[in-house]
Amino acid sequence: MKTATMALLMFVATSAMAHVPDMENFETKPILADLKDLRALNIPVLAKDERIEVGYAIVTPLMQQRIQERSHQVGKCGGFEDLSLDMHVQGAGFNGILDNLAKIQEQNALYDRAPFAPLALEKNAAIESALTEVSEDNLRAYVTWLSSFPSRSNRDAEPNRHVDEMKTRLESMLAESKIPYEISQINHTSTKQRSLKVRLVGSERPNEIVVLGGHLDSINQSWGGGKTAPGADDNASGSANLIEALRILMSKSQPKRTIEIFWYAGEESGLLGSAEIAKQYKAEKKDVVAVLQLDMTLFPGSGELVIGSMTDFTSSWLREYLKAANETYIHARIVDDKCGYGCSDHASWNRQGYPALMPFEATFSKSNKNIHTTRDVITPESNFKHSAAYTKIAVVMGMDLANSDARQPY
Ligand code: BES
Ligand code: ZN
Repeated sequence: MKTATMALLMFVATSAMAHVPDMENFETKPILADLKDLRALNIPVLAKDERIEVGYAIVTPLMQQRIQERSHQVGKCGGFEDLSLDMHVQGAGFNGILDNLAKIQEQNALYDRAPFAPLALEKNAAIESALTEVSEDNLRAYVTWLSSFPSRSNRDAEPNRHVDEMKTRLESMLAESKIPYEISQINHTSTKQRSLKVRLVGSERPNEIVVLGGHLDSINQSWGGGKTAPGADDNASGSANLIEALRILMSKSQPKRTIEIFWYAGEESGLLGSAEIAKQYKAEKKDVVAVLQLDMTLFPGSGELVIGSMTDFTSSWLREYLKAANETYIHARIVDDKCGYGCSDHASWNRQGYPALMPFEATFSKSNKNIHTTRDVITPESNFKHSAAYTKIAVVMGMDLANSDARQPY
């Protein structure tokens, strides 16, 4: 088994440091990035996995900037995943990290190869009726409210202002809940910003958890100019989907499994909040059966109700589940696509071995180009009918998956 994993990884004998001029050594970072980008930029690749086209490198700030510039040219955002947290906390080194990632990909591939019966969801009247409650007006109101904060960045002078206000808002909403709940803020060591968590406790198997999440923070990465970061699409939209899903789910009967809804901190600075949470859950051996990540749902770049389903750092079982849920309840078009790097919080859960899913607003190349700027506001192209489909996905997972004993088969 070890040999199979090792065969996937070709380690380059030389150290990255040997190629890096001293002046640049300041603040190097371990990262995972698209192999093509690393090669095109002549950045020493320390380890790689050709199947997932991901390479491991230690990069200087200058190299980080080059990767960012290059990925912007090809329509990506940051273009790499920062592994600093894993290195410090686990002391895993790149062998450990890539080894672990390869194992997870192997698990996902096992499912791909196994001849399991295709998934199908039987229509359930309660779920059908719940889906009619998804309100585009509510979504618009939540996105308007969240994007009106000057910034929700974890590097803001007041990084928790919106987190506190959101907690107050959710508390008054939850006062009406028919399901026992807990609401809490989660402190982090990697950022002063806090994540927010609502737990709807399961009736029969409360230790089995269905996670629904998205990042609440925003960022402005443009040089100079104003520093407001409205982040309407990225990611007030996914955050709003989750508020709306909570509003509907808490009014329904108690699910057998526990549903945990997360609004993560510091995603834009390197998946900070979710990385700590997923690591903690793994350390505590929590039984997370599925993780939904909603990040950017408002811009229908590939057409209204065309949903991009990210195939990297996600579970094939959950992607099949999404297709089945779509057939029965959502009636959108699902198109497989890739980020090419751990572009959002699902990657944090995936790295800990939990099955994750990321339905996205469009295919990668057709996604909103105005994110991370002052222009990420509600525009005439913002489409709340499109966005509503992602709340529906969350509601189906909360009412179907959280009431079943389905699990990722290995
Ligand atoms: N929402 C984006 C990810 C994204 C952008 C996915 C465009 C697909 C298309 C997310 O908030 C983000 O910006 N992620 C960072 C990476 C993270 C590890 C800092 C990125 O893509 O640069
Ligand atoms: Zn972003």
